[in-house]
Amino acid sequence: MKQHISVLEDEVIRYLSPQPGKVYVDATCGSGGHAKRILEETGGRCFLIGIDKDKNAIKRAEENLRKFSGSFTIIEGGFEEIDSIIKMTKTETVDGILFDLGFSTEQISEKERGFSFLLEGPLDMRYSKKTYLTAEKIINHYSMQELAGIFKEYGELKNPYNIVKKIIEKRKKSPFKTTTEFADFISHFYRSPKKKIHPATLFFQSLRIAVNNEIENLKTGLQKGWEILNKNGRMIVLSFHSLEDRVVKNFFRSRENINILTKKPVIAQDLEIFINPLSRSAKMRAGEKK
Ligand SMILES: C[S@@+](CC[C@H](N)C(=O)[O-])C[C@H]1O[C@@H](n2cnc3c(N)ncnc32)[C@H](O)[C@@H]1O
Repeated sequence: MKQHISVLEDEVIRYLSPQPGKVYVDATCGSGGHAKRILEETGGRCFLIGIDKDKNAIKRAEENLRKFSGSFTIIEGGFEEIDSIIKMTKTETVDGILFDLGFSTEQISEKERGFSFLLEGPLDMRYSKKTYLTAEKIINHYSMQELAGIFKEYGELKNPYNIVKKIIEKRKKSPFKTTTEFADFISHFYRSPKKKIHPATLFFQSLRIAVNNEIENLKTGLQKGWEILNKNGRMIVLSFHSLEDRVVKNFFRSRENINILTKKPVIAQDLEIFINPLSRSAKMRAGEKK
């Protein structure tokens, strides 16, 4: 399995500025790349609460952070419940929160998870196996309006009705089963306006967002996270597409008690993009609570 390389790691540390004796939440812990840097930065003298929906990611993170045993805990759950999750650790407020949104390299390279249109797997796309909705259920059972709404809202596709009609005709004959079957079907009937982008990219993005209720969860996570942040505490958010970044930008702009630390979003330098192409679309925003 390919290993995730943490995005904008130095920049995250610079803006979060971890200090000994303080408490930090890595709200999307993944395999623990950023979490490890936070702990290293303080020589293991801060306390880190990791959150992730993915049981497998948590196992990898626990292994990765082993040498800091006693300075961290990782809890399986969604950051949309960040307030109740931190209470489970007998903590009320924290000094910094990091959100590194979306999926990890491990998740997209595991074909059984169904995140990739290049690897044949089931149409799943769930971060957590505890939830019920999958991409398969959406593609094969949602109405024309619901499907078009998802592709319009989460993929920002202008007129998805033609392709949605084709999807519905096809699924009547035989339901879609795999990621590559769906991606090939899209490629056959849909031309991406941007030549370099695979035609299935925005369809997969929108399905993943819908399956995991990502936009609503992000709004809730930011809101609840802000409430549990101490004065002078910092919130850092890494987003990977314009919908997410818009939510973060609007959230920061609508706070009264914030110092926005990044007037423009921080993006990756050419060298990082060369080493880690995943960083190409990253935008980092940071705010400090007044
Ligand atoms: C980009 S990865 C994080 C990588 C990590 N920062 C690192 O450096 O190793 C994003 C992680 O967020 C998790 N995730 C996505 N939505 C979540 C949510 N609402 N609550 C908790 N975890 C979530 C995914 O399962 C995935 O492991």
